Amino acid sequence: MNILVTGGAGYIGSVTVEQLIEQDYRVVVIDSMERGHKKAVHPDATLVEGNIGSKKTVADILRNYDIDAVMHFAADSLVGESMENPAKYFHNNVTCGLTLMHTAAEHGVKRFILSSTAATYGEPNEIPIPETHPNAPTNPYGESKLMLEKILKWFYQSYGMQYTALRYFNACGASKRFGEDHDPETHLIPLVLDAATGKRKFISVFGDDYPTPDGTCIRDYIHVIDLAKAHILALNTDGSGIFNLGNGQGFSVKEVIAAVELVTGKKIAVKIAPRRAGDPARLVASSEKAQKELGWKPLYPSLEDMVGTAWKWKCANPEGYKDK
Ligand code: UFG
Repeated sequence: MNILVTGGAGYIGSVTVEQLIEQDYRVVVIDSMERGHKKAVHPDATLVEGNIGSKKTVADILRNYDIDAVMHFAADSLVGESMENPAKYFHNNVTCGLTLMHTAAEHGVKRFILSSTAATYGEPNEIPIPETHPNAPTNPYGESKLMLEKILKWFYQSYGMQYTALRYFNACGASKRFGEDHDPETHLIPLVLDAATGKRKFISVFGDDYPTPDGTCIRDYIHVIDLAKAHILALNTDGSGIFNLGNGQGFSVKEVIAAVELVTGKKIAVKIAPRRAGDPARLVASSEKAQKELGWKPLYPSLEDMVGTAWKWKCANPEGYKDK
């Protein structure tokens, strides 16, 4: 089976490509390399440097490599940036995503897997959050992903292109070979690990006055290999649908810092900072649907294991991929 992976040089894309190749799929990666890393592309994958918004580039790949299914990771994904520059998010995520989807449907691609997000829900009114929870995104990033999900629903109805939208909660961890290297880095675990290596002097905790047991925000962290495996299960499951991917267990910012201290053996300096705009107090997934319908079961549910793999990768790659 031939799979096109958009954004396969990025964090979650690179680990998914690795899993696909380990399971003998043939993989073509398209990546603009704006945020991706050449070194993150598995050597057994074919890399096309290009933009998913170019109909010709996408059509050539679909034809030349006889693509059966598309896994779509390529997107801008910073909540804060999306508030400052919504046009960028609607253009890159929605306009370019639509070109990709339309070209895939025109070329008879029968399966489309979308990297979506918990940010489609907005402020939750129920925990754990089921897929039936209302969608009320509080930022253009979440809105852009929700728009792609809606387009896919109609494409399925009219063109018969089956789709799976996977709403990730907080991706973290690393495989032996591929890990998280963002510039700028905004995610909690890599930032706390930078404080452990001394690259950062301290970690800012964005608010300790939330209505949670220790006052800091609670998130559902999920290992990147578990996310990758869900994509492959989705590839092999008939029908269309939307699934949450999380552990169903929440950890506070302070608990994450404590886990990093345990794993690394280093004391982390902490500064309490003001709340970050738009942060819900608690985001925890119900992944019952993915477990039941996709047969998905996280292999790395323990926070120490998740942090441990990220730490190993960071120690082996202190400057990340160093290819920029
Ligand atoms: N945090 C800090 N200090 C930091 C960085 C983060 O205290 O320096 C806190 C945040 O306030 C938040 C938690 O750590 O409470 C996790 O923050 P991340 O930035 O790591 O992740 P988010 O939960 O904000 O974002 C993730 C995904 C987004 C997605 C969102 C869904 O990265 O793509 O979940 O709500 F949109």
